[in-house]
Amino acid sequence: TQTIKLAVIPGDGIGAEVVPEGLKVLAAALEGTGLEVRTTDFDLGAARWHRTGQTLTDSDLEAIKGHDAILLGAVGDPSVPSGVLERGLLLRLRFELDHYVNLRPSTYYPGVPTPLAAPGDIDFVVVREGTEGLYCGNGGAVRTGTPQEIATEVSVNTAFGVERVVRYAFDKARSRAAKHLTLVHKHNVLVHAGHLWRRTVEAVGAEYPEVTVDYCHIDAATIYMVTDPGRFDVIVTDNLFGDILTDEAGAVTGGIGLSASGNINPEGAFPSMFEPVHGSAPDIAGKALADPTATIGAVALLLEHIGQADAAARVSAAIDADMAARARASAAGSPLERSTSEVGDAIAAAVRG
Ligand code: NAD
Ligand code: IPM
Ligand code: MN
Repeated sequence: TQTIKLAVIPGDGIGAEVVPEGLKVLAAALEGTGLEVRTTDFDLGAARWHRTGQTLTDSDLEAIKGHDAILLGAVGDPSVPSGVLERGLLLRLRFELDHYVNLRPSTYYPGVPTPLAAPGDIDFVVVREGTEGLYCGNGGAVRTGTPQEIATEVSVNTAFGVERVVRYAFDKARSRAAKHLTLVHKHNVLVHAGHLWRRTVEAVGAEYPEVTVDYCHIDAATIYMVTDPGRFDVIVTDNLFGDILTDEAGAVTGGIGLSASGNINPEGAFPSMFEPVHGSAPDIAGKALADPTATIGAVALLLEHIGQADAAARVSAAIDADMAARARASAAGSPLERSTSEVGDAIAAAVRG
């Protein structure tokens, strides 16, 4: 038996509700494959912080590095000052483990309730840069709390950092049927970073003649995301634009509870981390209302990443089957109302076939 060492960080709020469903489906997908998962639970998040004042210690980080992959639920809690856990735990993991690709696919399953009148055929993937941009924490404030306060957040964009994620996006585009790449930025205003991104896409694109390329300013991209999302195939963008655009992508394809993501270190120097796009959702936490599908989708991305393409395909097919069931129920006028674990059970059963 081959063993997959999986670090598990349920985290806060609905994170702790959706992660068990992901693990349930992972176990189902590995049945009969000769593979087994050995999980290590990491007590990280609001409870740990209240108890110890710690977010992510060096020894937590070293222990996590000894795993093949990480499954994370969500972090952030109203009882903790905003940013403490988000920066100290989640972003620290993405930065320390050099997760420079934040991969966020979106597909629309016909018939699933969506706010769009005419969703069309939606199947794209956002390649969001994960280690730079406005997320670096580069900036500061002076005269805090006074009328003279000045607060700055400086976006860091390096030629190295932009090129490696752009190259990944071109590789991804070349592997897909449509072979199309859209750069999303705002180079009409952000002329320093924007033109670095534009020039990089132009230069790397010369090596990918089979990939067609276009460009949208971020503001227009949010329009097309609701009026014509079918135009997108691979989107490459910076850390903050990618964050915003992928919540919108989740909303148009049936809800943020469906959107999965991978924080990937493509070279495998560090374990990659898989998580839903959504957060800890304090408004619905503890009520078994959270949709675990995003986390289950993250499990499919995880399996794909560790080279278990067949198991990944079984999970994706099971999610599709569940989407079909939702579409049928909606068409019949009685949308499914299921608890978090009922959805997990249904998808795990579909994986077993
Ligand atoms: P959120 O994603 O937690 O919630 C936004 C909305 O989506 C809420 O109405 C919520 O009920 C709904 N929602 C989210 N996940 C859902 C699911 N699985 N099923 C059904 N509905 C779902 O975003 P927020 O409210 O802006 O943030 C809450 C906290 O989570 C904050 O502390 C934030 O920093 C943190 N956060 C963490 C992550 C992460 O860990 N990766 C991501 C986003 C936000
Ligand atoms: C996400 C979240 C995080 C981000 C926050 C919680 C740091 O919104 O994973 O999309 O902005 O990347
Ligand atoms: Mn986000």
